[in-house]
This record gives sequence, structure tokens and C-alpha cells, in this order.
Amino acid sequence: MISTPAYTRGDHTAAWAALNMHAQGAARSFDLRQAFAGDPARFERLSLQAPAVFADLSKNLWDDSVRAQLIALAQACGVTARRDAMFAGAPVNVTEGRAVLHTALRAPHGQGLHAQEVHGVLDQMLAYAEQVRDVPRSGIRDVVNIGIGGSDLGPQMAVAALDPHVHPDLRFHFVSNVDGHDLAPVLRQLNPATALFIVASKTFTTQETLANAEAAKAWFLAQGGGDVARHFVGVTTNLKAAAAFGISTTFGFWDWVGGRYSLWGAIGLPIAIALGAEGFRAFLRGAHEMDQHFLQALPEQNLPLQLGLLDVWYRNFLGFSSRSVAPYHQGLRRLPAYLQQLEMESNGKSVDVDGQALPFATSPVVWGEPGTNGQHAYFQMLHQGTDVIPVEFIAVKEPTHGIAGLHRKLLANCLAQSQALMLGKSADEAALEKPPTASPSMAPEVISRHRTFPGNRPSTTFVLERLDPHALGALVALYEHRVFTSAAVWGINAYDQWGVELGKALCNQLLPRLDSGDVAGLDASTAGLLQRLR
Ligand code: F6P
Repeated sequence: MISTPAYTRGDHTAAWAALNMHAQGAARSFDLRQAFAGDPARFERLSLQAPAVFADLSKNLWDDSVRAQLIALAQACGVTARRDAMFAGAPVNVTEGRAVLHTALRAPHGQGLHAQEVHGVLDQMLAYAEQVRDVPRSGIRDVVNIGIGGSDLGPQMAVAALDPHVHPDLRFHFVSNVDGHDLAPVLRQLNPATALFIVASKTFTTQETLANAEAAKAWFLAQGGGDVARHFVGVTTNLKAAAAFGISTTFGFWDWVGGRYSLWGAIGLPIAIALGAEGFRAFLRGAHEMDQHFLQALPEQNLPLQLGLLDVWYRNFLGFSSRSVAPYHQGLRRLPAYLQQLEMESNGKSVDVDGQALPFATSPVVWGEPGTNGQHAYFQMLHQGTDVIPVEFIAVKEPTHGIAGLHRKLLANCLAQSQALMLGKSADEAALEKPPTASPSMAPEVISRHRTFPGNRPSTTFVLERLDPHALGALVALYEHRVFTSAAVWGINAYDQWGVELGKALCNQLLPRLDSGDVAGLDASTAGLLQRLR
């Protein structure tokens, strides 16, 4: 078995100390406006082209010297060796003794590890997807994915993002929450004869998914739906539990695929049904091209590596605790939610791989909404609030909607926001303006102070030519490798999620108490709330 290479945690390197010194010194007076004024080539030098994704990194609070030091940090931490070990199947998920091989799910036949098994399931799943897509024969009109976390967010995000590529005669629904308000409105739209339920759960033990699947099955039977085996399929590593549920068609995957990295395999079944075999293969191809870029591009050209390092720079040296994602494409409305799991479940850790407490911060809070909606909600805080929050804009050059007069406005807004964050507005500039809504009873210089923008606020802008399966695959893989990079510098295991377990265990203990009303031994707050909720 390939072993996981020895690692050096970021803070144990000389590069970390050098970056720290720089952050306490020269970096404090770094100003983006001056940086652009003094360097006409800044945009060219600090932008990168990766497969399907162009990235403008020039509006970030860094320069060549910081970038070089961050690359030196990655080298000192052995990020490249760790990357190679992950791709080669080493058990880099050390706490669970598992390999991390979602990259094998998108490798062309014969090129990745476990190719026989991977392509066996892929071919079987795509053949099934094509059968369902043959609507006159399959009779299926509604596809309902029941799953949560990684068994929901990826497929839901991708099906929404690729809407123009989705089979026009099929409707897709995603039910995740153990709240009847999620399932009920979906059931109301369904006819049992034309519905297909996909029960998606890596473990097939997740409370929410099993409860929703049981409820859907009960509804199906009560509505006269007879053939559970035809209308329910399973996607899981636990074939036995799926069979016990009454499911006979299952698509499997393996313990070396983490839940939040699983949309490339059988968990991607809704995507495959939505797009068809060709579209799903294009999605995989985009991700594979990004894998190759991550593996082969020099650090100076390597986009996921640089994004991961920029995340470390902001989190550990400049002290920024969150990052906002603003996709200027309505199809990407679920991308922030998807990234929350990808980044925060992966990197929300406070001990290193050896279990040593970390003396520095890890995952930022990742959040966002599509533009321009966010502009009319929280962008006020991004521009004038007391926190500096790096923003990630995603712009797509070619729209697919065919409605005249909208797309250029969308793009102009996207450009304007990153420009405004960077440029800001001085009090003197504000004083030259006569805002019609300003109170006449307030001194103009006070009004000017309210209307000042500090500027020098960082952002990254990604540009995609178009949002198609290939580009989306590349974009998602880009984020995965970026998360890997920061985790490697921090010396943490990005592939376990022990932090979700305590709440699950306590929920199981509280469940019978909600029936019995027994609050013995509970803390006063939980006891009081429980009594109120009965
Ligand atoms: O609760 C966290 C989690 O384990 C995620 O990591 C996972 O994606 C989700 O639950 C769903 O798990 P499963 O696919 O096993 O139902």
C-alpha cells in the first residue's frame, strides 16, 4: 500500500514565519489602487487560465512577493507530495484509514485507480439514465432525489446550474430535510405511476433520508403505486440496507469516496438522468482536466494551488474569517450551499492529523447568494462594514436564456461590484456629490463620512465562457483541490467529519423524550424548550 507522506504543518516552517512578518509589516500598507497604478502588468501577471476557468486574482491583497512566499510555504509543507499520494490511493483520510479517490471517478477508462469497478458502475448508471430519459417508454416524468448533505447538495446544485441541458420532459425534485414541509409539496405534484424516487445515502443509515424514503414509500403505496422495485432505486455503499428497504436496483460506490466528493459517481445519478450519458461524461471530462491541471501545472500557473494558498494568506495572516461567493448566474444559486459543505465540513477542524490542537485558524465561513440579489441585501456590509470579506465573483460570458437586454446588465453589475470594493470612495470625493436623499439638517461633512467607502477590499473573479457540463465539472474540481491545498498547509484531515456526530447522538436520545416528556437529567434550557415544543 502507498503510504501517506510525512507532513510538515504550515506553522512549523520558515515560510510561515516570513509571511507572518510580512503581514505584520509591509502588508499593512498594501493598497490595491496603488498596486494597479504602479504596475500596468498586474492583471496579466496575476490572472490564470485553467481548464474552462479563467481567474483574475489581481484584485487580491497580495503581490508577487507574497505569492512567492506562499508557494514556498506549500513546498515546505509537502503539498505536492501529499497531492500525489492522494491521487495514488494512499490512505490520506488517516482517521478513517481510507484512501480519497474521487478523482478516480472522473478518470478516463484505463487511466485511474479502480478503473474496472468505476467504469462498470458508470456504464450501468448511464445506461439506466438513458432508459429513464426515454420518457415514452419509461413513463417517468418526475425524478425525486431523497438524500442529504453530499447525497443532495451536489446533484441539486448541478441540475439547477445546467438547466438548459436538462431533459425537457422531466422534472427534478430534491428532498433532504427531515421536515414534512420539504417532502409534502413535492408529493403534491406527483403521480405515483410517473414518479421515480432515488434514495441516495452513502451509509443508508442517515435518519433524514431513511425517514423521508419511508414516508415517500408509504405515500406511494397509499396512492396505489404497486411496484416499489420499479419506482425506487438506491445509490449507496450499503447494498444490504437498500435491499432491506425493498430496493432492487442499486448503484454502488466505495468508502474511498467521501460524501461531499461523491457527485462524480452514482450519487450523480440525477445529474446523469437530467443530462444524459454524453452530458454526464462531459461533466466528468471537465473535472478530469482540472485534475490534470492541478497535477501538472507549475505552482506559478496552478490555479487550485494558488486559491488554496490565498485562502491561507487571508485566514491565517490577514485574519479574515469568511469568504463570500457571488455567482453572477442564477443557475449557480445552490453553489454557495454546496461549497459550504465542501469547504466547511472538510476544513472545519481544530486538530491536526496527529490530533494536536492547532494554534491557528482553519476553515473560513463560506456563504453567498447569486448576484445581483446579494447586492440588494448584504453587499452594504461588504462595502462599508467593519470586516474585510474577500468576495469571489463568478461571471459567465455567454447566456443561454435568449432574453434580450439582460445579460450585459448582469455582467456590468458584476464588474462594478469588484471595482467598487477595490476603489472605494474617499470623503473628499463624497463631498463633491449632492445626494438627493441626504438630510438637509445634517452637516455636509458628516454626510460625506457616511458616504465614504474604504475600498482596498479584495476579490477574485472567475470567468467561464459558458456554463455547460464540462465547465461546471472543471469549476467544482477546482474548488475541491483548493480545499485540499489549504488542508495540506494546515496539516488537517479534510476527509473526515466527526463534528457532525454529537448532534446526531443527542437527537436520538431526545427523540423518545419528546414523546414521554421526560426531562430528567437535562440542562434547564434544553428541558424548558423540550417542554414548550411538546
Ligand atoms: O452528517 C454529515 C454527513 O455524514 C455528510 O458527510 C454526508 O454527506 C451526509 O451526512 C449524508 O450521508 P449519507 O450519504 O450517508 O446519507
